[in-house]
Amino acid sequence: MASLLVLLPCLASLLLAASPAASTNSEGEALHTWRTRLTDPTNVLQSWDPTLVNPCTWFHVTCDNQNHVIRLDLGNSNISGAIGPELGRLEHLQYLELYRNNFEGKIPSELGNLKSLISMDLYGNRLQGEIPKSFAKLKSLRFLRLNNNRLSGSIPRELVSLSSLKVLDVSNNDLCGTIPIDGPFANFPLQSFDNNSRLNGPELQGLASYDFGC
Ligand SMILES: *[C@@H]1O[C@H](CO)[C@@H](O)[C@H](O)[C@H]1NC(C)=O
Ligand SMILES: *[C@@H]1O[C@H](CO)[C@@H](O)[C@H](O)[C@H]1NC(C)=O
Repeated sequence: MASLLVLLPCLASLLLAASPAASTNSEGEALHTWRTRLTDPTNVLQSWDPTLVNPCTWFHVTCDNQNHVIRLDLGNSNISGAIGPELGRLEHLQYLELYRNNFEGKIPSELGNLKSLISMDLYGNRLQGEIPKSFAKLKSLRFLRLNNNRLSGSIPRELVSLSSLKVLDVSNNDLCGTIPIDGPFANFPLQSFDNNSRLNGPELQGLASYDFGC
């Protein structure tokens, strides 16, 4: 009986400690589900053990002190596969660094759900399709580098509302239409848009439709 009385408070505190871990492990599940579809020839993702209570000890993953994932650092890692829509479930993510790999396919519109995102670096991959309009929801975004891919379509006009955006690079793609001039676009140098053979220069409002030539 005495030992049970000692044990009960221990059990209670174990249960209390377990509940936040259980909620943050949905982030580990999202990452692991994505990983199962990736090709990782140099075993960069070897430490991604889904049986751990959260992904915070995995290499290339950084958490805050509430065990929420705030950084994913997988630049220069020789990974191929698609960028998973699951990443849109990392709702505390601030840095998404997937540059210089062999990622292919479309950029999932779910990345627009990453409302804490400060930096998205997807440059130097083989990404196709359009820049998602949902990126207009990334109100904390300061750095967006999508250069050196195979992106097509026009630059979504919705992005003019990203008032925190300081650096944009979409050079070396296959974008078309005209370049927005409002909001943060007033400050981006023309080099940010270089080598998109069908992109027609800054829009002259009212004179040419923004998707002219698409
Ligand atoms: C990626 O692969 C290339 C050749 O396949 C290799 O030379 C290079 O070291 C690899 N990079 C990393 C970060 O493992
Ligand atoms: C222009 O961009 C395409 C697509 O990324 C790339 O393949 C090509 O090498 C680039 N050309 C120059 C001159 O940089």
